[in-house]
Amino acid sequence: MNKLRIGIAGLGTVAQGVLQLVKTNGSLMSRRTGVELIVQRIASRSAKPGVDLLGAVFSTDVHDLVADPDVDVILELIGGEGLAKDLIESALAANKPVVTANKAVIAGYGDQLLAQGNAPLRFEAAVAGAIPIIQSLNQGLAANRIDAIYGIINGTCNYMLTVMEEEGLAFDQVLSQAQELGYAEADPAFDIDGIDAAHKLTILAALGFGTSYDFSALYVEGITQITAEDIQYAKELGFKIKHLGIAMHTDAGLETRVHPALVPSTALLASVNGVMNAVQVVSDAAGETLFSGPGAGGAATASAVLADVLSLGTSGLIGSARALESKGRSLNQAQAAGTAPAMHRLAMDDIRSACYLRIPTVDRPGVFAQVASALSAHSISIEAVIQKEQPLEDASVSIVILTDVVVESVVNAALTELAALDTVVGKITRIRVAPTH
Ligand code: HSE
Repeated sequence: MNKLRIGIAGLGTVAQGVLQLVKTNGSLMSRRTGVELIVQRIASRSAKPGVDLLGAVFSTDVHDLVADPDVDVILELIGGEGLAKDLIESALAANKPVVTANKAVIAGYGDQLLAQGNAPLRFEAAVAGAIPIIQSLNQGLAANRIDAIYGIINGTCNYMLTVMEEEGLAFDQVLSQAQELGYAEADPAFDIDGIDAAHKLTILAALGFGTSYDFSALYVEGITQITAEDIQYAKELGFKIKHLGIAMHTDAGLETRVHPALVPSTALLASVNGVMNAVQVVSDAAGETLFSGPGAGGAATASAVLADVLSLGTSGLIGSARALESKGRSLNQAQAAGTAPAMHRLAMDDIRSACYLRIPTVDRPGVFAQVASALSAHSISIEAVIQKEQPLEDASVSIVILTDVVVESVVNAALTELAALDTVVGKITRIRVAPTH
């Protein structure tokens, strides 16, 4: 039996999930992989009475994990950026393999961390919780050219959009509900503004397309502008609204964008509801593959963390400086930027998509003709229109238009013109239609 001594940084939900999973499934893991996991040391700011540490040594300084020669691999489960990044750097500098669930650190500093030292750095748990999407991109689909990755990769957004659709509730009501249920953070901005999904898409784009781990290169939009009314109109047009991360290669270049999108109601992703996550990968040989599962939670995330740990345990790298030198670095290189030919990243202004537009206008004859004429002046074709006769509470009416596929900069120019019309009396909502392959 190959013994693997782990050191855990942090004692929050994910760390507790790891301890619990080792306790319940440790023997099963050993039988399956030949690796016996021993929790050697745990470091956290404060102890948590009542948590079974499985006999591990406890200290309050996470750097003790690096210094302890009896720790073979460090699990960074602190979260945040400062201390977590510092710990990962020190561990890799000391040639200690690291497994992390930290999407923000990888999305911001993945390039430099993967280039550092000889020890492997693994982060399956950083994207879509339990779903083994990183292993699938690195290994399962390794023989493929990846053409597109579409992900529902924020459970909070997916939960909120699902409940808004099913119960017709307003955004704020559903947000409070999500917070009460513990799905959304007390400060929900990371989720609802799209930042969390963008961290995850940065990682998926790097693995699928060899881009750098550059979070700032993505276009990011959250779900705060979506209303129950939009969801209802989208349904009438045959779509669901999902918050998507999209990394897609077109003839014009690579698109990396995170925003709400209209997804045909019959599409695979349309049926992924509630807090569930899903990632659809389109590749040349395997075709369309869909991975779905829980994207958060202690046990689900622990499953991904321990998948990385066990894979390191069976890799022959642990405890052998020579193996680390020859193989650890190449393992990191396989996940580092530049593994695919450099791709031109398309500016958001240049992407092409069909758009849903909800335009609040005064209820007066001739207004629709005015709106249609403004779109026509920019050569934007209209695919479908909805206009209800019944005015809203403020006496305005919504004109809802589905456009043909059009370049983003052209839609932007048309929206500026529409917003300036004196018959348009509120903010225009634009939701892009998800691309199809
Ligand atoms: N807050 C995230 C979500 C889970 O709602 O999906 C952790 O990434």
